[in-house]
Amino acid sequence: MRKKGVHVKENINNFTFKISKETEVTMNSAKNLFQKFLETKPIFKRREALTISFTPQSIPHREKQINDLSRILAPTLKGGRPSNVFLYGRPGTGKTLISRFVGSELESISKNNGQNVKVLYVNCKMKRVADTEYRLMAYLSKLLGKDIPFTGLPTDQVYRIFFETLDENKQTVILIIDEIDALVEKTGDEILYNLTRINQDLKNSRVSLIGITNSLGFIENLDPRIRSSLSEEELIFPPYNGLQLQDILKERASMAFVPGVLEQGVIEKCAALAAQEHGDARRALDLLRVAGELAERNADKKVTIKHVDEAQEKIDIDRVLEIVKAQPRQSQAVLFTIIKLSERNKEIQTGEVYDEYQEICKKYGFKILTTRRVSDLIAELDLFGIINTKIISKGRYGRTRIISLGLSNSIIKKLKKLLYEIFI
Ligand SMILES: Nc1ncnc2c1ncn2[C@@H]1O[C@H](COP(=O)(O)OP(=O)(O)O)[C@@H](O)[C@H]1O
Ligand SMILES: [Mg+2]
Repeated sequence: MRKKGVHVKENINNFTFKISKETEVTMNSAKNLFQKFLETKPIFKRREALTISFTPQSIPHREKQINDLSRILAPTLKGGRPSNVFLYGRPGTGKTLISRFVGSELESISKNNGQNVKVLYVNCKMKRVADTEYRLMAYLSKLLGKDIPFTGLPTDQVYRIFFETLDENKQTVILIIDEIDALVEKTGDEILYNLTRINQDLKNSRVSLIGITNSLGFIENLDPRIRSSLSEEELIFPPYNGLQLQDILKERASMAFVPGVLEQGVIEKCAALAAQEHGDARRALDLLRVAGELAERNADKKVTIKHVDEAQEKIDIDRVLEIVKAQPRQSQAVLFTIIKLSERNKEIQTGEVYDEYQEICKKYGFKILTTRRVSDLIAELDLFGIINTKIISKGRYGRTRIISLGLSNSIIKKLKKLLYEIFI
């Protein structure tokens, strides 16, 4: 080891010796280049405080939901089975945070109380966790301390192992199923039916379910038998307003930033923008974090309102690019067509799209879909918010759909570049 160290040192000396006049000049300018980064003070004290996974110290403006959920789960402490409960509200309204917070409080209080309570949390949007009934059962068993191979067994056997593990001890299990709509979408609703009936067969333990969803229509479309047992209780999470978002941001900002780096009005601006986006606290935190990152990247001394505007643009661009990247090739081809047409005309009629779409398919060697399928893809792009469509009446000529691209020029430029890269 020691020998190696000496060796390196010799090399360095050698290297220094050989530096030419020219290299010295570039090295000096590099020094200037980085100088401003050395001189500026850091922006962040603890950036993680603005990330999703961070658990805040206080949870303002959710007293009602916290109290209600605690009241619903409280029978656990007396050995009873709490009602199943359904939590719903738009994204970023604190559903995940509050269910996990109340769950962990319950676990620790019951421990002190000598009760055996386990809170299991599963997010059904997580890959490879809830893609199939098998995987979900295997995952839940693992949380209960029983390893099941991730493939290979018949599903009913996996179910039985889960059931037996559950019933091994006298215990109350609170099962939080987050993004429950994704589970039903992927596996159907039978699994929920089984879970809501599970207590009938358990001898020692009992299970209560907390279902969570952003999708307000989901519960209405559920099989009525599942629905009535899953939502013995319901808790609604309304959107935050601008002032509430300011309170949430202030606490996180005081942990995340070096004191004094936030210009007056930055928090208010992030809160106001997120309030417009259906009161989404995640959006508010993202705006503040990205604004800070942009300031840091620029070696600016303060985070300003201009950084917040840039952050908004950056987040929007990233979101659109993410969605488009995940689309099937045909849908990307339709979008490409619409972008091309919109360079000529702000408003596009559906009929025009199909002609140009065929040209693009020929050019890049894609299969040409029917008009019907293309129109479905257009409707999907609208649903994702990438394009806007509206139906207009043309009097006795019937009705037609008009398409426009509701995106800023800089996003369109980036999208075009992305699609070119994908197609070539
Ligand atoms: N009342 C609140 N106080 C502090 N942070 C909050 C509050 N509500 C939400 N957050 C934060 O906002 C983000 C989104 O909340 P989350 O619980 O994931 O929303 P949902 O599950 O409803 O989509 C998380 O980072 C969370 O910590
Ligand atoms: Mg959530």
